[in-house]
Amino acid sequence: MTKPSRKGILLAGGHGTRFYPATRSISKQLLPVYDKPMLYYPLTTLMLAGIRDILIIIWEHERALFEKLLGNGEQWGIRIQYAAQEKPRGIAEAFIIGEEFIGKDSVCLILGDNILYGEGIPAIMQEACQQPEGATIFGYYVQDPKRYGVIHFNDQGQPVDIVEKPQNPLSNYAAIGLYFYDNRVIDMAKQLKPSARGELEITDVTRAYLDQQKLQVTKLGRGTAWLDTGTPPAWLEASNFIQILEHRQGLKIGCPEEIAWRMGYIDNSQLLTLARPLLKSGYGHYLQELLT
Ligand code: G1P
Repeated sequence: MTKPSRKGILLAGGHGTRFYPATRSISKQLLPVYDKPMLYYPLTTLMLAGIRDILIIIWEHERALFEKLLGNGEQWGIRIQYAAQEKPRGIAEAFIIGEEFIGKDSVCLILGDNILYGEGIPAIMQEACQQPEGATIFGYYVQDPKRYGVIHFNDQGQPVDIVEKPQNPLSNYAAIGLYFYDNRVIDMAKQLKPSARGELEITDVTRAYLDQQKLQVTKLGRGTAWLDTGTPPAWLEASNFIQILEHRQGLKIGCPEEIAWRMGYIDNSQLLTLARPLLKSGYGHYLQELLT
C-alpha cells in the first residue's frame, strides 16, 4: 500500500477585524511584513516541509488579488489552488472546505498570519509530515497564553489537555497555528459543534486526537521564533524582526523563489526569469546574487 502524501492548507480568509481599518478593503495576509506579503512566510514554511500541493482559503471577492500574486504556483514548482470561505466559521472549517482537495491524503494546516523562524524548523516539519497517523501540533512558550489555545502537560511532560483562550491558563505553552492531521480530520471537523464564540474550533479537533491518544505535541525550543502578526503591534514587531535579521545577514526569510531554487523545484534560468521584474526593489538583485 502506498503511503498517503501530505497536502497543505493555508488559511487566508477571516475579516482581520483586529487590524481595522487597514484590513477593511484588503485581506490581512496580503499586507507586507517588512519586504514581502505576509502570506509568503507561512507559504514558505509549507514549502520547507516539502509540501507542494497547497490550497489557499480566501474570500471569493479577493480571488483575483491572490491569483495575481501567486498564480497557480508553477513558477515556484508547486501547485496552488484556491477555495472560497463564505463566512468566517472557524479554523476547523478549512477541512470541510478542503475535503475534495485533501482526498485520501493527510494534511498540514497553517494560519496565514503566523511566522515561524528557526534553524530546526524544516527538519521538525519534515518529521511531522512522515507521521503515518494521528496528529502533531507545536507548543511555544509565551508570556500571554490567554490569547491562544493552551496545552497543559503532566509531570512526565505528556499533554493532558488543550483549552482555547483559558481565563486561568495551566501552562505558558501556546498551540501555534500549524497543525498536522491524518485524513480522519475531515470527519472530525464535520462532527464539531460551534463554540461559544460561534466557531468550529481547531482546539476541539486537537482535543479529539488527544482523547484518542493520537496526539503528539512537539515543544519548540528557545532558539525558535513564532510570531503572530494579527494586530498592529504584533505586525510591527514581526516586521522589525525580519528587517533586523535580513539586514544583518543579507539573507532573506520567507523567500519562495529562493526556497524553490534550493529545494531543486526550479533551475538557475527559471530563477533569473523570476528575478527580472523584481530588480527595482532590490528583491530581484538578491535572487540574482544567489547564483554568484
Ligand atoms: C487561533 C487558535 C488558537 C491558536 C492561535 C495561534 O486563535 O484558535 O488555538 O493558539 O490561532 O495563532 P485565533 O486566531 O482564532 O484567536
